[in-house]
Order: sequence, then C-alpha cells, then structure tokens
Amino acid sequence: MPQKVRKAVIPAAGLGTRFLPVTSAVPKPLLPVIDKPLIFYAVAEAAAAGIHEIAMVLSPGLEAVAGYFSPNGPMEDALEERGDTERLAMLHEIHGLAEVTVLEQTEAKGLGDAVLMARAFVGDETFAVILPDDLIWSNTPAITQLAQVAEEHGGSVVAAKRVPRETIPNLGIIDADALGDGVHRVQGLIEKPSLEKAPSDLAIIGRYVLTPGVFNRIEQGAAGALGEIQLTDAIAAAIGQESLHAKEFDGHHIDAGTPAGLFAANIYEARRRDDMAGVIAELGLIPD
Ligand code: G1P
Repeated sequence: MPQKVRKAVIPAAGLGTRFLPVTSAVPKPLLPVIDKPLIFYAVAEAAAAGIHEIAMVLSPGLEAVAGYFSPNGPMEDALEERGDTERLAMLHEIHGLAEVTVLEQTEAKGLGDAVLMARAFVGDETFAVILPDDLIWSNTPAITQLAQVAEEHGGSVVAAKRVPRETIPNLGIIDADALGDGVHRVQGLIEKPSLEKAPSDLAIIGRYVLTPGVFNRIEQGAAGALGEIQLTDAIAAAIGQESLHAKEFDGHHIDAGTPAGLFAANIYEARRRDDMAGVIAELGLIPD
C-alpha cells in the first residue's frame, strides 16, 4: 500500500535574475502576490494537503525566506500592545502552518541537485515537491490530486497541463497515453526540448509526488538541459521499472516565475479577494 504523503520539499534556491533589479535586495520567493510572498502559497498548499513537514532548499543569503515562517517577537509584541488581534492571528496562522527545515544548496547545479539536498530529510518515503513559482488555485490542492493518483496506481506522479507551443522549450514535456480523468501513463519525459523534439504539448507543472528511489537516480544521473542536474531526467530514468503517471490537475495555474507572470498572478488573486473589489472595479478588471 502506498503511504500517505507527509513531507514536502520546496526548492527555492536561485538568484532570481529574471526579476532584477528587485532581486538585487529581495529574495525572489519573498516577492508578493498582493500581501503574501510566493513562498507562502507553496507552504499553504502543502498544509492544505495535510503536509506539515517541509524542507526548504535555499541558496546562501536567502535565510529571510525561512524567517517568514519563524515567530517575529518584536512585531507580535507591538501588535499585542495595540490590541490588534486580527493581525496577530495572521502571524500565528503563518507560523502554525508547518515545521520548516532549511537546507542549503551551495552551488546552483539545477533542480535535481536541489531536491537531492533533501534526501536525509525525506528518508525512505514517498514525498511531495512544490515549486513556488508555479501558483495553482484549486478546490482540492494539486498535491492531494497527485497523491490520489499515486495511491491508485503506485509509483510517482507529476502535475501536467497543456501549454502553448512557444512555452514548450522552457518546460519539461511529457510523452504519455491518456487513461481518462486527466490521468496519463508516462512513456517518456524530455526537459526543455526543441519544438521539433517535443513529443506533445503536455508540460510538467511544478508539483510532484515522488518515490524515494528518485534520489539514487539524481545522484547517478549526468547533467542534462542547460548543463544542470535535472529532476525530470531522474524521474524519467524510472520508466520501465516503476509506475509513472501525469495528472492534468483541476485548478487555475499561473507561472509567476517572470515579472509578467507575477503581475498576472496579482491580478488573478485580486479578482478573488473582496478587499480588492474596489480597485478592481475602478480599473475595469471585472471579476469572472
Ligand atoms: C522546472 C522543471 C520543468 C517544469 C517546470 C515547471 O523547470 O525542470 O520540467 O516544466 O519547472 O515550472 P524550471 O522552471 O526550473 O526551468
């Protein structure tokens, strides 16, 4: 019987150069969607999926990212003194979401290498990976949807979505047979293929439920696309030995890994929030 997913790895290393100049001083995972940083949405999604043990893989110098999840004494004292129970509750909610372990990736060697840093934290159990750039709004957390497929079929599961042609060379692309209900049996994965080599328009989105065997495959794997240790290659190396599925999840996804994507995420989230209704109406951005 597959075990319940109890642990998540959130790779959040990297310089965030696509967001310069702001990332010259502010770590990318702390860039906000309205009033919460990107990293919050990743941790909140894990918590909503019942996962409260989280390893955050950070580059040296990005400690402030983990600090977001630690109690802030002076801030709490000030709010208490003012009797601002509403904002105090906000802070307590963040700190209560999960137990966060910080791991360091000293060299930017790729996503596979970042996940490998979490090997001892994960141990010998099936675990989740959540990429904080990929924001997903859904009724059932995307990780829960993947875990359900893992429970039914065993093995590992990656989140998937049909993408426009021009984005294919930036993503992991899936070769698969549809089984129904958005579930596909994966035959192959290619990281950042050229348009000629892409087997489909079905892309990996940054949610994974992986068996711990992936760590050996990362370790044994050679550098792939962009000269980096790719998680996609290590997952693909299991095909034929272990079951591997892709799940077209229910939910709305935005890649907030570029300034335009982060802007889109802010608009999308604003349209969902009552406290933004005034400004949304004023700007003519009528909610759906
Ligand atoms: C990573 C993965 C890729 C996946 C993408 C989703 O790429 O390697 O397979 O499609 O995330 O966001 P990155 O965005 O780190 O280049």
